[in-house]
Amino acid sequence: MDIKIAPSILSADFSYLLEEIEDVTAGGADYIHVDVMDGHFVPNITIGPLIVESIRPKTDVTLDVHLMIENPDKYISAFAHAGADIISVHVEATNHLHRTIHLIKDSGKKVGVVLNPATPAEMIKPILKDVDLVLLMTVNPGFGGQTFITDVLSKIEQVSKWRSELSLSFEIEVDGGVNEKTAALCVEKGANVLVAGSAVFNSSDRAKAIESIRQSAIK
Ligand code: DX5
Ligand code: ZN
Repeated sequence: MDIKIAPSILSADFSYLLEEIEDVTAGGADYIHVDVMDGHFVPNITIGPLIVESIRPKTDVTLDVHLMIENPDKYISAFAHAGADIISVHVEATNHLHRTIHLIKDSGKKVGVVLNPATPAEMIKPILKDVDLVLLMTVNPGFGGQTFITDVLSKIEQVSKWRSELSLSFEIEVDGGVNEKTAALCVEKGANVLVAGSAVFNSSDRAKAIESIRQSAIK
């Protein structure tokens, strides 16, 4: 599978949000990762559908929306209408995962399912055939700039094994503490979409940062 780099705008300068998105897109970003936090599911508050709606007409890049919110069913249609391309929901945030996934599918968007570091892969096995993407958190969600949790590597390997055993083609995305070093470890286990917030936006040359993550992952 192609390696894709998804810079997370959580680490961007929000007072120049469009310029920041244009900068990383010109620098080779495949997706723009949008971290939505509600102050309940995670201890931080970030952005909502209004921001997605205002970005959407200004860029063609794939908007990869990561919902870290309680009661995601209530907001799926708002994000779909705002122009998200991929909508990912946490297993831990919904009591009826199958229903939530189908709400996203019915909205015409690609579906992602997300697992926190301590949540076992078995939780998503029954619905793997229904998703376009599996997002494995490699930090506890809530903040950028945290340290990669190495224990998640075996979960990437497990999900990747199921993907081939079941002849499925969903993407495997990793999120949190991804940099040149950890990207390579994730790709070796089967991940192909690499979210990187601080590793891209804290660099003065974003194109170079994106390229060095990609190159380390390809090797
Ligand atoms: C964490 C967010 C991540 C975060 C990654 O809750 O889901 O997308 O922005 O940031 P870095 O790459 O700095 O760990
Ligand atoms: Zn994220």
